[in-house]
Amino acid sequence: MTTIRDVAEKAGVSITTVSHVINDTRYVSDELTERVYAAMRELNYRPNTLARSLRSGHTKTIGLVIPDISNMFFAEISRKIEDKGFEFDYSVILCNTDDNSAKEGAYINVLIEKQVDGIIFISAGDDPQNQVKPMNFGIPIIIADRDIEGSNSDVVLVDNYQGGYDAVSYLISLGHKRIACISGPSPVTPSAQRLKGYYQALEDVGISIENYYIEAGDFRYESGETAMRELLKIGNPPTAVFACNDMMALGAMRAVYNHGMNIPGDISIIGFDNIPISKSVYPALTTVAQPIKEMADMIVEILLERMNQQRQRRRTDEEFSPFRRYVLQTELIERGTCKSLNDR
Ligand code: RIB
Repeated sequence: MTTIRDVAEKAGVSITTVSHVINDTRYVSDELTERVYAAMRELNYRPNTLARSLRSGHTKTIGLVIPDISNMFFAEISRKIEDKGFEFDYSVILCNTDDNSAKEGAYINVLIEKQVDGIIFISAGDDPQNQVKPMNFGIPIIIADRDIEGSNSDVVLVDNYQGGYDAVSYLISLGHKRIACISGPSPVTPSAQRLKGYYQALEDVGISIENYYIEAGDFRYESGETAMRELLKIGNPPTAVFACNDMMALGAMRAVYNHGMNIPGDISIIGFDNIPISKSVYPALTTVAQPIKEMADMIVEILLERMNQQRQRRRTDEEFSPFRRYVLQTELIERGTCKSLNDR
């Protein structure tokens, strides 16, 4: 196997110079740098990242724990986080927990064993009893998207309550009164907050809340279809539905079509997330947009700051600055799935 010594001999430089070129730890002239890279290419040399990590004390890797990669929201935020990490020369190790807390705990152990420099944690939230409390694993960790009570970390969320409130207020402004809600998994904080926003928006205009207009989903496409089928069986069916995420809104749209009805002519639907496909379906889905790219950039930047503090602390025993909570705002995106009843 080619060693750093072989590269140095081939390039006609010292082993130290090769090391500085590979690790970018000191200025080396362009001419010598090119000689080193040419020698590495000719010898097909691959630096020993494990040895480099042991020397430098970090692996340049970030662990990302998410509940469901098949949900386009998580696919999109994972992609944005990976893009941002790559900008700072970090690799991202993706751990998909399938909404399973037991798997979540196993992955946390894997990431600790692999000595990642930091963890971004979106909890499965399937069972609050089993929920992994991202205690201080000795690795900086960011809680994202789904709040965890008592977490001793920085937290980046969106204002899910306001987003749900705005979605339902929008339907009310279109003249709807029989407004249903397809909620997400109850233990998951974003869903619970959005549902609270639904309740408050109706209450604020004196519309009574009917339990038969509330169906529980699980944030997956099929649960939106099933929930909508139930809502369409009601003697006095809703004229509008707020689905607590876009995947369930798309499933609900399929149930409406299969019922021989029209969107928005017979029923209006609004989702939440603004996943890329929401603008491509027909009619394009009206939804509440989460600032996915802004969230991803903020999450990575805060984590990088913490990881630098961690390294600094090892050298100077400086205290961490206090943990912070960031709550970003959502934005209502009006497209084609909601109709005004005021024109009648
Ligand atoms: O679509 C998946 C949902 O779960 C999103 O709304 C996101 O907030 C996550 O919590």
